[in-house]
Amino acid sequence: GTQSVDFIAIDGPAGSGKSSVSKAIARRLGAGYLDTGAAYRALAWHVLERGADTADADAVRSAASVFPLRQALDPDDRRVFVGDVEVTDAIREPRVSAAVSGVARVPEVRVQVNELFRRVVAEAPYPAVIVEGRDITTVVAPDSPVRILLTAAPEVRAARRAGELAGENAAAVAEALHKRDASDSAVVDFLTAAPGVDVVDSTELDFPQTIDAVLTVIERRRGAE
Ligand code: DC
Repeated sequence: GTQSVDFIAIDGPAGSGKSSVSKAIARRLGAGYLDTGAAYRALAWHVLERGADTADADAVRSAASVFPLRQALDPDDRRVFVGDVEVTDAIREPRVSAAVSGVARVPEVRVQVNELFRRVVAEAPYPAVIVEGRDITTVVAPDSPVRILLTAAPEVRAARRAGELAGENAAAVAEALHKRDASDSAVVDFLTAAPGVDVVDSTELDFPQTIDAVLTVIERRRGAE
């Protein structure tokens, strides 16, 4: 049959908790989970691996034209491969974080990657997929009935990131987060909600409360269909 797969779109800035929240919700709903940031990171890794300059749009386009990405959709399987090389840990390295905005800035690359995301979701062996990123609610799946922007105050996001990266100094984390917000915002606006997008602000919510708030939106929007 041609059962269609529901897109559940969740955008938000770094440190908003969207990855852990999205995974928890995917488990709860028996849905798939697609981390689009990991795909951009894998592409940045791929460009660096080829010895190309991630600030050079032509080099990025050329690397992207042969980009054999494999990403699990199981929320409990975070492995990412480029070809046969597992890059799960490598894509979290600071050199990749620093390079990823340059890669994500190239418009043709975004178009190509978005096509890949739509195809992966359409073919997913799940009734629904939680797709998490920066422009899912606006560009990748603007027609999805469930579109959520998960936000949190910058200080809270920096504190959460500092907690994840034990040993790093909080001021340095806040500075790096601020820099990445600024360069990411130049590519897509993920700090304001587009019309029809539900905002969940997790500034004053703990993790279970955030999950409940997001689930409430999903149930309400799905019920309205
Ligand atoms: O969510 P993350 O920090 O892993 O995302 C990594 C980078 O990818 C981030 O700098 C912004 C970019 N990105 C994007 O441009 N569009 C998306 N849909 C997801 C991520």
